[in-house]
Amino acid sequence: MTREEKEEALNKLNEEQLAYCIQHSTLHVGTKQAVPGSGNPDTDILFIGEAPGQKEDELGVPFVGAAGKLLSDLLESIGMKREDIFIANVIKHRPPGNRDPLPDEIAVYAPWLAGQIEIIDPKIIITLGRFSMDFILGTGFSISKIHGQPKRKNGRVVVPLYHPAAALYSGNLRPALFADFAKIPKIIEIVKEEQISKKSSSKEKSEQKVETQQHLL
Ligand code: URA
Repeated sequence: MTREEKEEALNKLNEEQLAYCIQHSTLHVGTKQAVPGSGNPDTDILFIGEAPGQKEDELGVPFVGAAGKLLSDLLESIGMKREDIFIANVIKHRPPGNRDPLPDEIAVYAPWLAGQIEIIDPKIIITLGRFSMDFILGTGFSISKIHGQPKRKNGRVVVPLYHPAAALYSGNLRPALFADFAKIPKIIEIVKEEQISKKSSSKEKSEQKVETQQHLL
């Protein structure tokens, strides 16, 4: 899909899923708006957070509050900008008082995030915090054990990281988060090299096929 096609598909998904979530959950009650996600849909890298907070609810954009400022600093520390990536959340409406999302809310909002992943089709997913890690990798992992360790899931590389808000509350997570972010450029490089070698080996294979076919003719 081209960038324009992805944008169009995401807009359609947002419309459909907003209607579905409003019908199947009361989480939207008392919020100003949904916060579907923002950034470049044609990116190789998708960041997934938990749920919008107060500022995100006001502006309709993810990660624009204090945790968002830290996320921007983390991106800048590795020479990346928000325009280079796409940022989404597991839950698209602000839970009251920023409480943790409930399992049935996660279930209602799940097709929205799953649809975004399908359309954006990122090579690398970076999960921020426990809820998005569980959503992508399945439950049973401990973030304090696996943060910063790339995993493979459904043909993508998944990098589970601490949530920036956790680093705001617990100062000793901050250096760990910066150190984990510092690993991202190398991970991107490895994934790109893999893509190139996959392409050239499939090109080689198809050239070999043509050669064999010519041989047979
Ligand atoms: N925290 C999140 O997980 N998402 C946001 O959009 C903002 C804060």
